[in-house]
Formats: sequence, C-alpha cells, structure tokens
Amino acid sequence: MPKRIQTIRGFRDILPQEAQKWWYVERTARDVFSLFGFREVKLPILEQTALFARSIGETTDIVEKEMYSFQDKGGDNVSLRPEATASIVRMFIQHSLYQQPLAAKLFTIGPMFRRERPQKGRYRQFYQIDAEMFGFERPLADAEMIFMLTTILNQLKVAEYDLHLNSLGCPQCRQAFKEALKRFLEDKHQKLCPDCQRRRLLNPLRVFDCKSEGCKEVLKEAPLITQYLCQDCKTHFESLKGYLEAFGIAYLLDPYLVRGLDYYTRTIFEVTIPGIGAQSAVAGGGRYDNLIEVLGGRSTPAIGFAIGMDRLLPCVPDPDKEARPIFLALLGEEAVKIGLKWVQFLRKVGIWTEIDYRLGSLKSQLNRANHLKAKFCLIIGEDEIKKGKAILRDMDTKEQLNVALEPNSEIIEKLKGGKN
Ligand code: HAM
Repeated sequence: MPKRIQTIRGFRDILPQEAQKWWYVERTARDVFSLFGFREVKLPILEQTALFARSIGETTDIVEKEMYSFQDKGGDNVSLRPEATASIVRMFIQHSLYQQPLAAKLFTIGPMFRRERPQKGRYRQFYQIDAEMFGFERPLADAEMIFMLTTILNQLKVAEYDLHLNSLGCPQCRQAFKEALKRFLEDKHQKLCPDCQRRRLLNPLRVFDCKSEGCKEVLKEAPLITQYLCQDCKTHFESLKGYLEAFGIAYLLDPYLVRGLDYYTRTIFEVTIPGIGAQSAVAGGGRYDNLIEVLGGRSTPAIGFAIGMDRLLPCVPDPDKEARPIFLALLGEEAVKIGLKWVQFLRKVGIWTEIDYRLGSLKSQLNRANHLKAKFCLIIGEDEIKKGKAILRDMDTKEQLNVALEPNSEIIEKLKGGKN
C-alpha cells in the first residue's frame, strides 16, 4: 500500500460540520459589517516580503521567526501573508483609495500563515476576520471600531470576554518611554533571555512580547507607557474611554499591553476569553496612524482589528435554528419526473431540498430523510399519482396531509417554517 499523505504540522482540514459554523460566524460578521458601512475586499495571499518587514517590523517575532518566506523561481523574495493589515494598506496606496468615501471602511476574511509552535488554538494556517478604517484621527473612530467588534461577539452570543485597552502614544511620547525602558533594562541584561538581550537595544518595546518567565518577572518593575503619554495622546485616550462608556462597553485598562506588531500608535486593544487555554486572545487591533506613510502613501490615520476565527469558533454557541432540508421520497420513474419539477421549484424559492439518488424503498427513503434531519418529507408514489395528491409528512409530529401533486406555492409558507 502506498504511504498515505497527511496534512503538514500546524495545518488542518475544516470538516463539513465545523465549516457550517464557520459560515455562520462569517455571515454574522458580514451582516454587522454592512450595518456599519464596511465593504469587502479580497487580497493576495502572497506578497513581497518587504511589505511585512517594513510594516510589522524587522525585530518582531512574526517577521524574525514566523513568516513563510522564500525566493520564487524568478528570484523575488515573497512571503505568505502573516496578517491582513499590511496588504490592505498596500492596496489602499496602490489604488489611491484616499478620495473614495466608500473605500474608507474595509474588511476581508481569509487565511493567514505564521510558523509558530502549534498548540491548542495556535495553528500555522489560521483564519482572520479583519476590518480597517482609514482617514479618521479622532477617538470616535476608535470607539466605533471597538463597538463593531463587540457587536459581532454579542451577535454570536459569546458569553464572557474581556476587552483589554491601552495607549501606546505617538512616536514623540513613545521615544521618551523607549529611552526610559532602555535605561531600566540596562542593568537587567543578564536576567533577560538571549532574544530580549538583543531586542533591549534594537526595539525594547518587544521585550513585553516575551513569554519567558524570567523576562516577565523583570518587567514587573518596568516603566509603563501610560506614564509617558503626551497631552494630545492622553486627551485622545481619555475621550475614547468616555465614548466606550457612552456605548456601555466595559474595558480593562492594561498598561502592559503592547501588541506584537510595530505599526501601532495610540489606541491598542485585545479581546481575551478566560478559560480557553494559553491562546486566549481571540481578537486584537489598534490604531496605526503612520503606517500608510511608512509604506510610501500620503499620511492617513487608520485603525483596525482582526478576529481569530480558529480561536473564536469553539466559544460560539451553535445557532438556535439549524437549517433542515425538505426530503422528496419518490417511488417509481413517474414519481421521479414529478419530483424533479418539485426539486427545481423548491430550490428556486430558496428551500434546501434533498432526494434519494438510489431511489430505495419508502422505508429506506424515510430513514435517509431522518438521517438528514429533514423537517418535512414530500411523498409521491403510484397511489399518490393515481389520486392526484402528494403526501406531506411532518417528520417531527409524524402528521401527514394531502397536498397538490404538482409544484404549487400554497405549501411554501408551511415548508419555509422548517427552514432556518
Ligand atoms: P494579531 O493580534 O497578530 O493582530 O492577530 C489577531 C488575532 O488572530 C489574534 O488575536 C488571534 O485570535 C488570531 N491569531 C493570531 N495568530 C494565530 C495563530 N497562530 N493561530 C490561531 N489564531 C491566531 C493582527 O494580525 C493585526 N493585523 C490586527 C489588526 C488589524 N490591527 C489593526 N488592524
């Protein structure tokens, strides 16, 4: 027997049962996005490596260790996208979307790739629902983004989650903080892990991303960014908090939150769900007012977030109503021909319709209908054809009633009651 080929470590298949829930989550997110005026974009999965190096940052874990980067056959350095923000910004600049009012609020849904150590809730291919808003500097935009994120979570009936909030300030106040952090870490060099020893000098903020216990211990005494915010950044953060309170959105101030990507300025946030394991961050985002300029565009403030679908899904209760089909039990060739008319008719009006392709006995067809959790079964056999009436069986109550043999709209309302 030839050796079977399996998925690569950290990659997985999404089987039909689970895929259905994915679809429900995506649909709910899309519905919320349209209420907030966000429009969908589709982006390439492969981009120039430089795009991510310049935006996410050379000294971040993502760029240093986790990207799937390679030289293609033409010698170009390319990477599978580890996130969507950099690509949306590239698209925004490349197509000069500055002036189009409807291009200010965009979302995309799709797979991302990071070569992290796989564990529960952490995959090398994972899916994000990502939203970005361009052109608005004021904190009302931040509040609206966070409100949209919580609306999605609430619509999905995610029971318990925490919203962590912090401000990273602007490059000016961040510089003073970085200097203070560098000074603080100077004499703790030996206590830091080799990565952080290097980062201490290059990009000290990234020491906050470190998972090693030693580094975490050192940071307990570290200066905090919030102590260094300039007046403008402080005011921005205060107004955001006021708007969140007006929206009735609870948040936890988390001065240690820095997020693992270099492009952020001012507001950053993360949603965690307690009790789901080490990988508890189901969404994260923030403002990135300088990124468009860094990537060669015209200075444009922006803010966004991404929801990690793989982590969120297990926390989403199953939707109340599962879609259920109508099953046509057809006995004999003549019944099949009438049945095919029904199939066309029912699907045209949006009703999920199933038939038994083996055309077995009535008993086996009803079994199949039960197996598929059909709400109704429309039975047509020789007797029914003779009488000119089909039988409509309610599979839950077992009640049967005679209905017209040929497709007709009379029973549509009844049938639709069995649909989601
Ligand atoms: P991020 O925090 O790196 O932010 O990722 C967002 C979410 O993606 C995480 O909270 C997590 O749920 C999910 N995620 C990340 N890595 C993995 C993984 N290996 N396996 C499973 N899920 C994962 C960003 O990507 C930013 N682009 C968000 C953003 C948009 N900021 C501004 N706009």
